[in-house]
Amino acid sequence: MDPAGPIAQAQLDLLVWSYQLSIFVMVATFSVMAFVIVRYRRKRAEANAIPNQFHGSTALEIGLAIVPVIIVILVAVPTVQTIFETEQRVTPTEEDLVVKVTGYQWWWKFEYPEYGITTANELHIPTDRRVVLQLDSADVLHSFWVPRLAGKRDLIPNQDNQLWFIAPEAGNYYGQCAELCLGAHAYMKFRVIASEESDFDAWVEAFDIEGAQTIAADPLVQRGYTLFAQKGCTTCHTVDGYRADMQVGNPAFPDLTNFGLRTTVAAAIADNTQENLEAWLRDPQAMKPGNYMPTLWQEGDPNADAEIEAIAAYLLSLGQPDTTEARALTLEDAHGDR
Ligand code: CUA
Repeated sequence: MDPAGPIAQAQLDLLVWSYQLSIFVMVATFSVMAFVIVRYRRKRAEANAIPNQFHGSTALEIGLAIVPVIIVILVAVPTVQTIFETEQRVTPTEEDLVVKVTGYQWWWKFEYPEYGITTANELHIPTDRRVVLQLDSADVLHSFWVPRLAGKRDLIPNQDNQLWFIAPEAGNYYGQCAELCLGAHAYMKFRVIASEESDFDAWVEAFDIEGAQTIAADPLVQRGYTLFAQKGCTTCHTVDGYRADMQVGNPAFPDLTNFGLRTTVAAAIADNTQENLEAWLRDPQAMKPGNYMPTLWQEGDPNADAEIEAIAAYLLSLGQPDTTEARALTLEDAHGDR
């Protein structure tokens, strides 16, 4: 009910018009009914009299046929118009931001072909620029829904669905998968983070893959980096820089490149802080029941606390390396860690 941008506004306008018309019809009908009840109620004096008997009224019958047709036309015309305006497939132009969105059980992959960026669960967009989403699913049906920006659109395996919208103001727009996709469906959230053009460019800049190939000098971070491979995180997750060597096939789990730039963790259900990240790593099922992330530490593992702290510190450092002391990751690092 608080629309941002032309698509959501058109949808709300249609809803408001439908309600206005419905309320008018309701008030009119109830008024006539109230009038009839009062005006023609049975009076004591004529308690047993038989009312005036008649059959057929051409004017009334024509009226009762025409009025509903008018009401249907008043709803149908704007509805069809709005559907054509908002659902129409567009051909992206140079000015548009095209993002490929893939739904997974239970997270979102966002790919920016223009910038070579792959990220998850947070869709960064500039304000006042048309965003054209190409929607696909890797497994079951999902539905992309950011209530303030646009209506729902399903993600269907092997079908190219499209959704476009424009965010007029900077800010966080909250999204949620709106198609029951089992397991952690209720926790399949995401965020659309709209910012001014210059801030968006800064994000793209910060995402630069060259920068992602460094690791901060902090010993805790370095230890986390080693553990990240040792504990098997790299079996499922990519961190750019040593992806090619470590990955087997196309990972069906979130790309963690520049993870430190994210504001949320576990498909936008919690803020991306050291504390939440540790809780997530320690017991992913407690935070997001039904998801595929395993618990990597046995109950009572004496090293758990220290290892979890280090991996969380490493993940938070990604994309925000202390560049003065950072060193580049090498494939030898990855081999060694194996
Ligand atoms: Cu994806 Cu519900």
